[in-house]
Amino acid sequence: MEPAAIGIFDSGLGGLTVAREIARVLPDEPLVYLGDTARCPYGPKDLAEVRRFVVEIGSWLESQNVKLIVIACNTATAAALSLAQQVFSVPVLGVVEPGARAAVMATRNRRVGVIGTVGTIESGAYSRAVRALDAGVTVFSAATPRFVDIVEEGLRRDVGPVEDLLASASDVFIRPSFYELARDYLDPLKRNDVDSLILGCTHFPLLSAAIGQVMGVRVHIISSAEETAREVAETLERRGQFSQANGPVVRRFATTGDTTEFERLGSRVFGSPLGAVEQVPLEELEVLSPSASLALSAGPTEETACA
Ligand code: DGL
Repeated sequence: MEPAAIGIFDSGLGGLTVAREIARVLPDEPLVYLGDTARCPYGPKDLAEVRRFVVEIGSWLESQNVKLIVIACNTATAAALSLAQQVFSVPVLGVVEPGARAAVMATRNRRVGVIGTVGTIESGAYSRAVRALDAGVTVFSAATPRFVDIVEEGLRRDVGPVEDLLASASDVFIRPSFYELARDYLDPLKRNDVDSLILGCTHFPLLSAAIGQVMGVRVHIISSAEETAREVAETLERRGQFSQANGPVVRRFATTGDTTEFERLGSRVFGSPLGAVEQVPLEELEVLSPSASLALSAGPTEETACA
């Protein structure tokens, strides 16, 4: 049997920004990544529906012999982190708390901005996470759903290394219409004088140069990927679960959507070739264990109850 892997999932490609950081910090750890591209985007969906996706994908990952699950999607973390922590027998980490922690550490004027999908922002998950860490920090939020489409469009149109997107060299990002939209979204946060901005969506690190340009050099741009990878490493260390395997590390990538496109675009986001991408049909995910079905039907979790 393969040694236990770190399970990671997202609604699609964006979570590969988190997987990439985990692979950088923990190069010897086997990974299993699932991108639910067939049902992407999660951002505009009802949180109850997203909760079901989280339970389905977490159950699938558990069946793949994982020792820890990372919900590398802000919307899914906002919808169902505590539910997932109740349902699964392995530790489950999300991306909201690590991003909130990085912002609390970075802010000097105690005014933090957060941008994300409609689902993430409306859930209030970031405001709660920041308040739990430091009740004196004020959070200003803005839903910026069009940024997800812009990243998707940029990835599909561009062929160069993803670093070009990060450096805002792609024409998708230097088009005046992008900056007009970005100013509409971000001006209210600037007017509120935030000195740190959390990129509360896994797609947004790919826009960080352009977002930073609009926010100005004084504002710290925070992506939760690094902080999440650090938390994964700490959790494995605490549990004495670092991989002991010798030989080449196994990294598996799977999608519910088109494997060829996932391999092409995902290799650019991950920063190295994904290799052959596995197909996971939705019917395979939709079969839930009786205990997972029971947990889902038990009603709203603490996240949605507070939303
Ligand atoms: N991965 C999602 C997130 O981080 C963004 C894309 C989507 O809407 O599914 O919120």
